[in-house]
Amino acid sequence: DWTMAAFKEQALDAIRKQVGDGKVICGLSGGVDSSVVAVLLHEAIGEQLTCVFVDTGFMRAGESEQVVSMFRDNYNIQLVHRDASDDFLGAIGDSIDPEVKRKAIGKLFIDVFEEEAKKVGGADFLAQGTLYPDVIESVSFTGGPSVTIKSHHNVGGLPERMNMQLVEPLRELFKDEVRDLGRELGLPDSFVDRHPFPGPGLAIRIPGQPINREKLDILRKADSIYLEEIRNAGLYNTIWQAFAVLLPVKTVGVMGDARTHDYACALRAVTSTDGMTADYYHFDHDFLSRVANRIINECRGINRVTYDITSKPPGTIEWE
Ligand code: XMP
Repeated sequence: DWTMAAFKEQALDAIRKQVGDGKVICGLSGGVDSSVVAVLLHEAIGEQLTCVFVDTGFMRAGESEQVVSMFRDNYNIQLVHRDASDDFLGAIGDSIDPEVKRKAIGKLFIDVFEEEAKKVGGADFLAQGTLYPDVIESVSFTGGPSVTIKSHHNVGGLPERMNMQLVEPLRELFKDEVRDLGRELGLPDSFVDRHPFPGPGLAIRIPGQPINREKLDILRKADSIYLEEIRNAGLYNTIWQAFAVLLPVKTVGVMGDARTHDYACALRAVTSTDGMTADYYHFDHDFLSRVANRIINECRGINRVTYDITSKPPGTIEWE
């Protein structure tokens, strides 16, 4: 019988065989996949593993601190934390084209990652949280044969440049199996059950307008209110992913007896099993009213809230 406990033992064996006494470097994003890879590798090879967390500045509220304390303090995993938020904002500049932004972020990510990898003395292996759907999706995507819908964020190209081999222990797993493996490894539910989060982060949730720190802060606040309400309603684990998008339009509103002219935001929530298709989540209207009221009252800079009812296809989950 196939169990996750057995899979874990096999994976540990396979890693030890592949790596020998080599050094492994692993990029941590704060997401489920890279967290599971890191803890699995740590269990397999201990001190031979170094993790690198490149902080783009596009993370959600409190996320960077959580990643660092989780891995450095609780797991005692060797962790390099590089705050590169200025560089990332600079790399995007005033770009508003989704692919231009994705590519700029992806390229800088690789450069910063490589710098940090060299600082720790290089490595023989690069560990990655590639999942089965990633393997499939890079071949054919829902848009049809050989059409790139979105350039995905990863450290492609780096293994050759630095002469590293890939370690990809999750290649055969779907997301729900990765979560089971995480639980098997003793990762806390708060990490294992996390919603997916794209590498380019909040930078692809501020569409159609130049990005700056002020907009990132507004979006971060709206996003955290929305997710807090989702958790309070007991809906977090039913939903595949939920987030706010800061729209490139200011609308007129009224607050007390004053006129406002502030941003509109969109809320998105979807159910899915692998991210390849998705349905929008049918919240009840009381819930949506509560979230909208809180965002408009507590988020200076937003005076209107809309709800995105597009499924995938034809929409993608992220707006960019
Ligand atoms: P889309 O928006 O293409 O997203 O329907 C499908 C799933 O992938 C996530 N996503 C990314 N994940 N790097 C990632 O690691 C990326 O560049 C990226 N872009 C999208 C998205 O959040 C959703 O879960």
